[in-house]
Amino acid sequence: MASPWAYTLLCLLLAGTLARAALSPTAILSLGPDIIREKLMEKLEEHNATVILQQLPLLSTMQEESTGLLSSLLSGAVNNIIWFKVTSASLLQLQVQPSYYSQEMLVRIPMDMTAGFNTPLVKTILQLYLETEAQATIQVEADAGTPARLVIGDCSSNHRNVRISVLNQLSFLVNSLAEKVTNILTPALPSLVQDQLCPVILAAFNDMYANLLQLVTEPSVFNLGSVQFDLQTPVIDGDIIQLNLGATLLDSEKKVSKWFNQTKAFLTAPALDSAPVNFAVRHDLVNAVVAALLPPEEFVILLDYVVPSLADQLKLAINTFNEEAASQLEATQRLKIRTQKSPEVVLNQDGARVVQQIVLDFFANEQTHRPLFTLGIEADSEAEFYSSGNRFILNFKGINSDRIHLMNSGIAIFNPDLLKDVVTNILASVLIPNQNGKLRPGIEMSMMKALGFQEVTWSMTQVGGDWAGPAVQRGGWDGDVGTGEPPVDEEAAVPLGD
Ligand SMILES: *[C@@H]1O[C@H](CO)[C@@H](O)[C@H](O)[C@H]1NC(C)=O
Ligand SMILES: *[C@@H]1O[C@H](CO)[C@@H](O)[C@H](O)[C@H]1NC(C)=O
Repeated sequence: MASPWAYTLLCLLLAGTLARAALSPTAILSLGPDIIREKLMEKLEEHNATVILQQLPLLSTMQEESTGLLSSLLSGAVNNIIWFKVTSASLLQLQVQPSYYSQEMLVRIPMDMTAGFNTPLVKTILQLYLETEAQATIQVEADAGTPARLVIGDCSSNHRNVRISVLNQLSFLVNSLAEKVTNILTPALPSLVQDQLCPVILAAFNDMYANLLQLVTEPSVFNLGSVQFDLQTPVIDGDIIQLNLGATLLDSEKKVSKWFNQTKAFLTAPALDSAPVNFAVRHDLVNAVVAALLPPEEFVILLDYVVPSLADQLKLAINTFNEEAASQLEATQRLKIRTQKSPEVVLNQDGARVVQQIVLDFFANEQTHRPLFTLGIEADSEAEFYSSGNRFILNFKGINSDRIHLMNSGIAIFNPDLLKDVVTNILASVLIPNQNGKLRPGIEMSMMKALGFQEVTWSMTQVGGDWAGPAVQRGGWDGDVGTGEPPVDEEAAVPLGD
């Protein structure tokens, strides 16, 4: 069911460098009170909570409670109630609150009902307005031997929140009768609601939790593989449910190609701020997916056919330091592009960048097997993350050749920086489009849509030693992301800071 909210699901990619002995989650889904409220309300409706309220056995309760009454005209009337029913009922705005106890939160479910009754004493149906509330706790149940899970702890309805008022204001007699009924019903209503509604709350919550687990364990599929998340532990932190997830990377045959259980990377749930939900993914998982999408590769292009203007630019550039070599270039000149490793996403002050090492072999013509020269290039691009429908997509924007090395030369040694501009242009018009083409199908994550969000914002955040200041950044990567490498403390079990 699509949520009517225009809220944004905030997703984060985090890089952390704190060492930690215990198994650290690879991803964390944090659900704030708004979404817990909405999902639980949906399930209560599915489980017919209001229908249950409409069927509250008011008549039999009244009959049981009034048997001891002394005989009088009014008692007789009460004893002879022949019809007593809830005519309309609704659940009001649920409230999700932190509990006094750790690993527990409180859900308050206020409700109101209109009930009608009649007795032989008066001809009209007398109407009452009933207000009450059910309360339940959500707890982490962690018995030894079984995986921790979320359960409904206590469920009750107490006397403090019962209010009954009479809607008819007819005569003294009618009012005294209604008052008598009210006096009998007020203490009886909470246990009636508790008996009838608590099983529904329990079933609705279990259903909601099962749905959530199904949602997070739905494989996230990409070209050539998928990521499988699994629940490590559920955590309750104030009014937030946090699902700590482990992950494995599967290849196209669904065989595990990478576990994330031996890593030293560290992930802490970032603050929700005003987002109803956020999903934080550890940096090493992002890089593993990038590596699966862009394995090391090698391809050859005929530069003069593919981008003639760059062939001209290259010839001119070579001509500035070696006229003879420039004159050897033929129209069939070849360029072999090799990526030695998969590109890697890194986080720094400038946001998210992707770095890669590329080797370029230049051949003067089609026949030769000896390159004119070979360059090694350390390059970096801006990493853009965005989502489109169900898909999460990474895109490389631009490329800088940070360092160029002359690795091998069949001509006189030259300063490879003289070729920096043309090499950068070649990579920008040949390698980057090729890589973006492979990244474009993205990784499918049905979680956001299943949670009812149309819009997802991705952020890159660096977490680590210093928690001062905002840890979350939204809407783009430029700006204040962090202060470079956070201090690393091998012993630390929690983020450092003051
Ligand atoms: C709720 O009521 C509908 C219609 O009576 C019924 O089909 C459905 O099974 C009920 N749901 C539950 C969870 O009992
Ligand atoms: C990671 O988990 C897998 C499967 O449970 C196991 O085979 C592997 O040994 C684990 N690696 C480490 C370093 O714990």
